[in-house]
Amino acid sequence: MPAPNIDTIVSLAKRRGFVFPSSEVYGGLGSAWDYGPLGVELCNNVKQSWWRWLVYERDDIEGIDSSIILNRLVWKYSGHEATFNDWLIDCRKCKGRFRADKIVDNKCPSCGASDWTEARPFNTMLQTKLGAVADDDPTALAYLRPETAQGIFINFLNVQTTLRRKLPFGIAQIGKSFRNEVTPGNFILRTREFEQMEMEYFVSPTDEHWKFVDYWVEQYLEWFSSLGLNRENLYLYEVPEEERAHYSKRTVDIMYRYFPEREKPWEELMGIAWRTDFDLSAHSKNKLDAEGKRINPDSTEDLSYFDEPTKQRFYPHVIEPAAGVNRTVLAVLMDAYSEKTNDKGETRVILKLSPQLAPIKAAILPLAKNKPEIVGMAKAIKRSLQPVLRAVYDDTGGIGKLYARQDEIGTPFCVTVDHQSLEDEAVTVRDRDTWEQERIKVSDLAEHLQKRLKPYPVPAPEAI
Ligand code: GAP
Repeated sequence: MPAPNIDTIVSLAKRRGFVFPSSEVYGGLGSAWDYGPLGVELCNNVKQSWWRWLVYERDDIEGIDSSIILNRLVWKYSGHEATFNDWLIDCRKCKGRFRADKIVDNKCPSCGASDWTEARPFNTMLQTKLGAVADDDPTALAYLRPETAQGIFINFLNVQTTLRRKLPFGIAQIGKSFRNEVTPGNFILRTREFEQMEMEYFVSPTDEHWKFVDYWVEQYLEWFSSLGLNRENLYLYEVPEEERAHYSKRTVDIMYRYFPEREKPWEELMGIAWRTDFDLSAHSKNKLDAEGKRINPDSTEDLSYFDEPTKQRFYPHVIEPAAGVNRTVLAVLMDAYSEKTNDKGETRVILKLSPQLAPIKAAILPLAKNKPEIVGMAKAIKRSLQPVLRAVYDDTGGIGKLYARQDEIGTPFCVTVDHQSLEDEAVTVRDRDTWEQERIKVSDLAEHLQKRLKPYPVPAPEAI
């Protein structure tokens, strides 16, 4: 049973320290969120899983970390300055401002009227100024990147030549992106500051690009299921031409059921796009247009690739799987949410997170906190586990309450130290999902937990 709606997760996230509304001491900042002690661990675990899966376990992908602020010309030639727009309309009756493409049945979502101004473009790149310059100095204008992808394209040649890469190969990057969204909202689903996990996969212009898109869709479906997402809550959307970004010849969105309570439950979790050779050509000094003019007179490099076997030089095509960290975290939280009733008829929340994603892997709980030997033994066990897995010690309540607290934050195992432990050097290990308990020797504990904490398997990548 996944969460019935996003609000259930908002309240759990705040109550238990996953996500807090940002700047609350000043009344908040619309659609900005801060990740608390458990949220930062969950985000890190998602990012680590992604990085391990793509960069370590495959042999054809390298990682980079580029600047958030790039030369403004990057955004000119990528097409973002001209086309990274939302189309806005104003309701003449209530003066509300909305994205034209989100209006249903031509009705104002605030007042129901149908009296609109003409739609006009609004560029959603967030602007800043570099250096101690006058407010109106246009040369100081810079942007906070709206996608991590461009940092990869402008480094294509650096990575390819220094690592002596041959096509096909990919470059992966995780990092913050910024968009001045007109209608942010729905918790961490749409915010102005968010984090992306993007990978640009470079292939030959003569490859079957259509098939590469299908390949990466399948790979990502496997990865999402390794994170615990139920396939029934994912849906593939073949994006029609009129909805695709300016650079895309084909895009498939993987949608998640973020709104199970609504008639239209799906929203984009990630997209897989065939970006053609658009970006590498656009940033290259030698690329000519149909009239033989350089399309980029500002670039000092040519981001083409020399293919040794065919002795051909060309601009590689790109297949881009682009995912959001925050949307993945929200989907994972919604899918992991479950409720269970105990013998006393009380309903408990259990967050059935995949063990690899759980912020805390084991909680070490003393059965009697006024017994120094038991407390000492529990703390020593916590310290001994910490180098191999994230463990916490907690004695701030009765055992039932402590179990419930750990279930609600998705801790796979509770380890209880009791009077008997002092005699037999063994502890009780309780399973989050079944509530079953077993007695384990302290000397075997780390190995026992590590075995059971193995990530859900992702099948080995198929050859492309
Ligand atoms: N480089 C291609 C690109 O950026 P996108 O579909 O605009 O494509 C990729 O973004 C992913 O980034 C989305 O599928 C979503 O997961 C995440 N994302 C985009 N805008 C977001 C926002 N305002 N808030 C949270 N996540 C966002």
